Amino acid sequence: MSDALNYLLQARPEALGHYFSFLKDAGKHLDPKTRNLISVITKVHAQTDRGFRQYLRRALREGCTATEVLDALLMAFPALGLAKIIWAVDIILAMNIPEFQPETLTSPAQWHDVTATADVQNGEVTRTEFEGRGLFVYRDKHAFRVYDSRCPHQGTDLPQLALQGSILTCPKHQWEFDVKSGDCIKKGNSPLKRIESKVVKGRLLGFW
Ligand code: FES
Repeated sequence: MSDALNYLLQARPEALGHYFSFLKDAGKHLDPKTRNLISVITKVHAQTDRGFRQYLRRALREGCTATEVLDALLMAFPALGLAKIIWAVDIILAMNIPEFQPETLTSPAQWHDVTATADVQNGEVTRTEFEGRGLFVYRDKHAFRVYDSRCPHQGTDLPQLALQGSILTCPKHQWEFDVKSGDCIKKGNSPLKRIESKVVKGRLLGFW
């Protein structure tokens, strides 16, 4: 949320409260993916750079694919026009999001070998990489949680050094995450992006 909206919410909670309940109520019959895509399109229409980046990241984090975002942009062509679509794609390219790389767009999601389960100690967090993609893996006995190493705020690739026990602190703006749950526990409001995983014959696999 912008600083201006935050300010108005504090200064005029009775008026702004109605506005936010309206927004919440307006999309209650839509599935989360559709809601997220519509939110992204509204930010492109209004051409709010910060809002677009924020809603795009949220859409990707909550399950929309890059292909679906591009489809939504193109479908909204009659309302947006080419100039706004190009504006949005320029920002997407500047954000350097791996999901939007042409080679990734053309290869469907699949299972990738992440690590040997024996290499992750029970109760500990390990950082690993697969073809340039950073991952944090947490093990709780036989259950594993795998997270994208990019900060959900502005995409900073979180290094091993950012980890202390199970707490991950982003060096850029100090958002803190608990890798056991993926939750953001300080400063920010978005969790780490969790990656679907499974164990096959002693190997941990991730789906992306
Ligand atoms: S990029 Fe991580 S907290 Fe801002």
